[in-house]
Amino acid sequence: MNKPSHPSERPERRVEVCFSPGKFDLYKDEFQTCVVIDVLRATSAICTGLAHGVDRIIPVPTVEEARALQAEGCIAAAERNGQIVEGFDFGNSPRSYMDGALKGKTVALTTTNGTKAIDIARGMPQVAIGSINNLDAICTWLMQQPGHVLLLCSGWKDKFNLEDTVCAGAIADNLIDIARYRSVEDSTIAAKHLYLGVRGNIFSFLKASSHRRRLRNLNLGEDIKYCLTPNTVNIVPVLHEGALVDSRRVKDGVLMDVVD
Ligand code: MLT
Repeated sequence: MNKPSHPSERPERRVEVCFSPGKFDLYKDEFQTCVVIDVLRATSAICTGLAHGVDRIIPVPTVEEARALQAEGCIAAAERNGQIVEGFDFGNSPRSYMDGALKGKTVALTTTNGTKAIDIARGMPQVAIGSINNLDAICTWLMQQPGHVLLLCSGWKDKFNLEDTVCAGAIADNLIDIARYRSVEDSTIAAKHLYLGVRGNIFSFLKASSHRRRLRNLNLGEDIKYCLTPNTVNIVPVLHEGALVDSRRVKDGVLMDVVD
């Protein structure tokens, strides 16, 4: 990634990490852009779906809302505790979102933590989606945005988790190192150092993580491998009028039919 050419071109922007949706209220007022991260697996699935041609993904916090959209004829996906909810064809396995049949379609999605975090962040001026799968794309996109950035880890039921924190640390490290963002919160320093300590070996390090264990017990090892692979996609989903869309389709606040 190229460094900005001259220091005077680098505005004083902040990047901070919030470890869980339960802590969001302590941070939210100071930031213009919120990046929601749920590496295993919601935000990885969202990035993958939009990169594979899904038109829009409507994130909803409850299964009831997903059912209501399904009843209106929308394709709907629901996951709770790592499993597909009864009555839905799929959940949040990124592999389900590579299906050509979803091309050009709108999908309503609810998950245990990821869509809840997106819902909490909804009031922020700008909401984007980050994952290990779109690491370079989200960093490059953020550097083009004005204002301070909050990296919101979805965690597990308001608890801290390792994989979201490592991903947030990677994004924070990039912004601080390449674009001279600053950070003042201990959470950001901790996330960054966690990432720097394990960056050569993220896959093995995360063997110990609680959600990876949970998914492995559900025979979802292929999903884990995919979600922990950097830069499988080159897009940034953003929230636009309640739906997640490819950021390249939003021009001056208006959603275009196709990417330029
Ligand atoms: C979530 O949103 O909590 C996760 O995506 C759960 C999962 O991996 O199934």
